Amino acid sequence: MAENNLEKLISKKLSRREMLKTSGKSAAVIALTSIFPVGFLNLLSKNANSLTTDFSVPFIPIFPSSEDKLILPKEFEYTIIRKWGDEIADGVPYGFNNDFSGYVPIDFLSGGNNSEDGLLIVNQEYPSPLFINNYSDEDFRNGRIKTSEEVNKEKLSTGINIFHIKRIDGKWKFVNDNRYNRSINGTTIIKLSGKTAGSEEMKFKEFASGTLANCSGGITPWGTMLSGEENFQDHYASDNIWEYRWNDADKDFIIEHYGWVVEIDPFDINSVPKKRTSLGRFRHENVTVGISSSGKAVAYMGDDKVNECVYKFISKNNFNPDKRSANMDILDEGDLYVADFLKNKWQLLDFEKRDDLKSIFKSQADVLVNCDKAAKTVGGTECNRPEDIEINPKDRSVFISFTNNSKKEDYFGSIVRIMEKDNDPESLDFEWEVFAKGGADTGFSCPDNLTFDNDGNLWVLCDISTSKINKEPYSEFKNNSLFMIPVSGIDKGKAFLFATGPVDCEMCGGTFTPDGSTMFLSIQHPGEGSLYYDQPTSRWPEYGDDIPRPAVVAITGFKN
Ligand code: FEO
Ligand code: CA
Ligand code: CA
Repeated sequence: MAENNLEKLISKKLSRREMLKTSGKSAAVIALTSIFPVGFLNLLSKNANSLTTDFSVPFIPIFPSSEDKLILPKEFEYTIIRKWGDEIADGVPYGFNNDFSGYVPIDFLSGGNNSEDGLLIVNQEYPSPLFINNYSDEDFRNGRIKTSEEVNKEKLSTGINIFHIKRIDGKWKFVNDNRYNRSINGTTIIKLSGKTAGSEEMKFKEFASGTLANCSGGITPWGTMLSGEENFQDHYASDNIWEYRWNDADKDFIIEHYGWVVEIDPFDINSVPKKRTSLGRFRHENVTVGISSSGKAVAYMGDDKVNECVYKFISKNNFNPDKRSANMDILDEGDLYVADFLKNKWQLLDFEKRDDLKSIFKSQADVLVNCDKAAKTVGGTECNRPEDIEINPKDRSVFISFTNNSKKEDYFGSIVRIMEKDNDPESLDFEWEVFAKGGADTGFSCPDNLTFDNDGNLWVLCDISTSKINKEPYSEFKNNSLFMIPVSGIDKGKAFLFATGPVDCEMCGGTFTPDGSTMFLSIQHPGEGSLYYDQPTSRWPEYGDDIPRPAVVAITGFKN
């Protein structure tokens, strides 16, 4: 049988497609050329001002850049809403490495769609020991133990921030509003909910101490926020060389309490966040929820680790569009599946129904806690770091980015599109195609977060890792960037460069207001390559003698 490895299956699919192309039978589209191949861009960059274009996209593409700036096309501008060093409520710090951003209209609960007044919900992924506590690589190598105060400061800097924002006279402003603004972080008590709560695998606990590693996420159709706990292993026990070592101050941590999806009601400041354990435990990137033809809530998820899988959860109960309270625990009961790209099937991860799982695991809780191992047991396909997964609003096809896997010589990643049978998220059969491959030909590399605009265009945020930015084989891509890729029309599949970020940063969390007029964007880890506090590689956004500060920005200039 063929190896159940996505990179191998992609190569096979592409060579077959190339053959079909030469025989003129291919209807498939793959982005093999960008409007500006990188080499061409470099040549043009000296004459940028003389360049005239007439593309179908609503901006004039910019050029790759190594500058310590957030650069946007002409006629677009950005406003910083919150940055490291600001507060979101009195005495409550805005977190450090902002990642996912989600916008919920302030009138959502009454069916409204306000695009100038809403709640911004931002994940804060991980701390910078250097810029939070001046704890350097040298301290780490010398084995300096962090104090409890230092660990606590790091815990407060990660998690999820919720706050009110308003657009006044065209400018977005933060609103200090004690009805909504709060931080859910490494110190917050969180309920363990779903199929593992209270189990032996969870050490018989019903509550977890805090959330961490909050990477990407999603907003549900019932107006809650889902936050993915990704690299949980770096905070307590880890096989990585670099870790945060919170266990130096926190001896009784339970590692099984991390690596879940957390659900939060942004409208109820007193609500207790819940870890939805029926969705499985792994390095969660994001969650995107669609409603199936029969009314089930279907949550798609990726496990961002090399050789890991893509999942979906189908709720037992139907989504109720008329009664919000009926949906608040809908993600606790249902079935979890893993994608088998070899057989084009979603494989069930249910201990009671699968003998192959019964022979290895003790219970469904054991399956869920050790989800990555269970996934391989039932035929889950090994992928090259599944990151964001999003549903195209125009045709319900599902897009997933696979960042890269240099050990398998996949340096630039790819974006795959799944078409569920009958276009129904509840289907257990699907077809798939390679939508775009990263690389010099397309101009983008290492796709990570994805978002769609109201016209169904795909926006792709890239994450070349800090140690590789501006180095081979990534040097021509320069700083991490944001591209728009039309999914239909004459420029279908071509990558257009919209934004480039400051030095060492990754841009993440792109999200639009309902009317498409504003995009929120997180600028994460500028200056991450810095070795010493007073010698940062970036000083964005304040410059002068300041340290680099991650920030969430509002980009305006989009026509709606
Ligand atoms: Fe936190 Fe997979 O990015
Ligand atoms: Ca990433
Ligand atoms: Ca990410």
